[in-house]
Amino acid sequence: MKKLLFQFDTDTHPSVFDTVVGYDGGADHVIGHGGLTPDNISALVDGAIFTRAPKDKKNTAIFIGGSDMIAGQALLAAVQKHFFPGFQVSVMLDSNGGNTTAAAAVAKLATSGALAGKKAVVLAGTGPVGQRAAALLAQEGAEVSLTGRKMDRAVRACKNMHARFGVNIIPVEAIDNNARAEAIADAHIVFATGAAGVELISADQWLHNKTIELMADANATPPIGIGGIDVMDRGTERHGKIVWGALGFGALKLTLHRACIAKLFEDNKQVFDAEAIFALAKALA
Ligand SMILES: NC(=O)c1ccc[n+]([C@@H]2O[C@H](COP(=O)([O-])OP(=O)(O)OC[C@H]3O[C@@H](n4cnc5c(N)ncnc54)[C@H](OP(=O)(O)O)[C@@H]3O)[C@@H](O)[C@H]2O)c1
Repeated sequence: MKKLLFQFDTDTHPSVFDTVVGYDGGADHVIGHGGLTPDNISALVDGAIFTRAPKDKKNTAIFIGGSDMIAGQALLAAVQKHFFPGFQVSVMLDSNGGNTTAAAAVAKLATSGALAGKKAVVLAGTGPVGQRAAALLAQEGAEVSLTGRKMDRAVRACKNMHARFGVNIIPVEAIDNNARAEAIADAHIVFATGAAGVELISADQWLHNKTIELMADANATPPIGIGGIDVMDRGTERHGKIVWGALGFGALKLTLHRACIAKLFEDNKQVFDAEAIFALAKALA
């Protein structure tokens, strides 16, 4: 019985990254579908849940990806709505690696210092990684704010996380590096989750800061998000702060992503979203 992973992607082209990790996580075949919405998945979900005998359904799983976390969340809800007792398969949501990347980084930050009660700022937190990172930090007891270049995008991201996790994140409009430097002035934790190849703050905007204890940057593409750190930093001390670079926690992200894929095939009722993925990240970190 082949292990089949169906990639349900909200973007036009299913993510190549997710295809590769699907195979590396143990799937025998990864079948990608792009441009999916809650309105066009019925036949695809039916094909996944009706084809195999109950004991064999664990060999079929669904992976939801794409660049839009809100669209991914809606797709997950729509897929689950199609399930009914005896007719379901395991499913994972990881739009743009948002869950696995955020979970790996926050789990590594937690190994470097306390998160509860700390003031955390997620820079450029409006994307999939930033939204999930902000929610996880808040669930760990941090007081979290999130920046975006436009207030309406920051507010939308915060509202989405409140609706999904019940957490209160403070939206902050920060149009440029100077505004982002202001936003982290009294922070204890800074996590940069900006688009690839965009510097969000320069070295001289944080290295003299007296409150920052922990920093992480998800962007591995030069220029990286936080000037003056290194992508390979793995809990490295820089100017009195503990720093995690994108590749420093990236190994855990990949291990975690593969481990989640492998677990999808253990039974047909697994749901890998932020909670289950973060629990596994903490165990692996
Ligand atoms: N280390 C790892 O293992 C790993 C794994 C996956 C992804 N990543 C990286 O994690 C980062 C976040 O991923 P993502 O998918 O959440 O990112 P994303 O959606 O591409 O971008 C995140 C946010 O960056 C902001 N942004 C875009 N262009 C900008 C600019 N020129 N100046 C300032 N801000 C800008 C946007 O916010 P506003 O428009 O609201 O300002 C956007 O919502 C990326 O760098 C990605 O490559 C790392």
